[in-house]
Amino acid sequence: MAILESVGTVRPGHSPLDVTAIRHDFPILSREVNGHPLVYLDNAATSQKPRQVIEALVRYYEEQNAGVHRSAHTLAARATDLYEGTRARLAEFIGATDPREIVFTRNTTEAINLVAYTWGQQHIGKGDEIIVSQMEHHSNLVPWQLLAEARGAHLRFAPLTPTHRFDLAAFRGLLNPRVKLVAVTHMSNVLGTITPVSEISRLAHEVGAVVLIDGAQSAPHMPIDIKHLGCDFFALSAHKMLGPTGVGALWGRLELLESMPPFLGGGSMISEVQWTKSTWAPVPQKFEAGVPNIADVVAFSAALEYLGNLGMDTVREHEKGLTKYALTVLRRDHPDLIIYGPNDVEWRGGIVAFNLRGRGEGTIHSHDVGQILDDQGIAIRTGHHCCKPLHTLLGAPESARASFYVYNTPDEVDALSRGLHVVKRIFGRR
Ligand code: ALA
Repeated sequence: MAILESVGTVRPGHSPLDVTAIRHDFPILSREVNGHPLVYLDNAATSQKPRQVIEALVRYYEEQNAGVHRSAHTLAARATDLYEGTRARLAEFIGATDPREIVFTRNTTEAINLVAYTWGQQHIGKGDEIIVSQMEHHSNLVPWQLLAEARGAHLRFAPLTPTHRFDLAAFRGLLNPRVKLVAVTHMSNVLGTITPVSEISRLAHEVGAVVLIDGAQSAPHMPIDIKHLGCDFFALSAHKMLGPTGVGALWGRLELLESMPPFLGGGSMISEVQWTKSTWAPVPQKFEAGVPNIADVVAFSAALEYLGNLGMDTVREHEKGLTKYALTVLRRDHPDLIIYGPNDVEWRGGIVAFNLRGRGEGTIHSHDVGQILDDQGIAIRTGHHCCKPLHTLLGAPESARASFYVYNTPDEVDALSRGLHVVKRIFGRR
């Protein structure tokens, strides 16, 4: 697919963030890799953690550790307050009015699976249709394949425009009363494409479909207001937004969550248990079976506070500037680069996936690109990024991907560009 939109302006003169101060908060950013200062451009895979989050984790284990929702002792009460405090803070962070609408999971994948195995099994039947987009991560595709297979339903695919945007007109054409679910990413982890979620929700609701949004890539990078988005479910991962690994969340409309059966059975999620049957705790406990990942949920609160202090509008502005700069510099310095995704940074997050043309027809393998950049201390992601069907559509089995966050600088974009010159030298392109 061609990139049709024109490139914007050049170097962002001034980030709205105090990036120097921010970098001081991230201990890992001062280390060297392979004898070079670390240039960490793999934020769409996972973000680095500020000292505040690391300290919250240590403090929890040194001073606060106990089981939540169970015991009467002081530590247990404190741990419960902290755990529930994160729920309340996350609800506020995404504009949800009721913390009961937040269910903690291990990650976005588990949050999506929760919906597939509960709401999905309850509501999707033979001949029903589920719409996903052509740019979904496997975690927002495979659960629906499994569900469609189990229930005799059909998957439909909302296409991309030639400039790698979500094709709203084509999506509208797919809608009909058989569509029961629309499950779409808010920001593609390959193209960086931001999808028009409020429009998608409005149109989907007109035919009575429920809307699930994969917010794994959007929640860390832009203000999220659930009410404005108008969706019914929203899934995210803490580790991509400065928080620890092993924590995700599902936001769902209260009435939907209350009507859904449990996902996993066991301790904590019950009201009454008899030998042959049980009843369920109110939401969100109904969906949080077993001892949860208390420490990491508690430390996630520090990440939310950190992002809240920066201001998500400001985070987004910083990344828009950096992305615009990266697109400009990489195109200027490397006309032989195939860059995927929209040029218009109003519709693109801080993700730049690309392939380098090699000698002859092919491209240089992304793993080689990643390896040579790593030799220079530059961390990017390579491979299919859990988006195999999208890569087929792009005509490339995989790609190299740089992705930005609050601590990245234009100098690091320059380092990436210099690093790509080294790749080309090694592959005899210069
Ligand atoms: N989904 C994450 C990525 O795109 C892991 O890298």
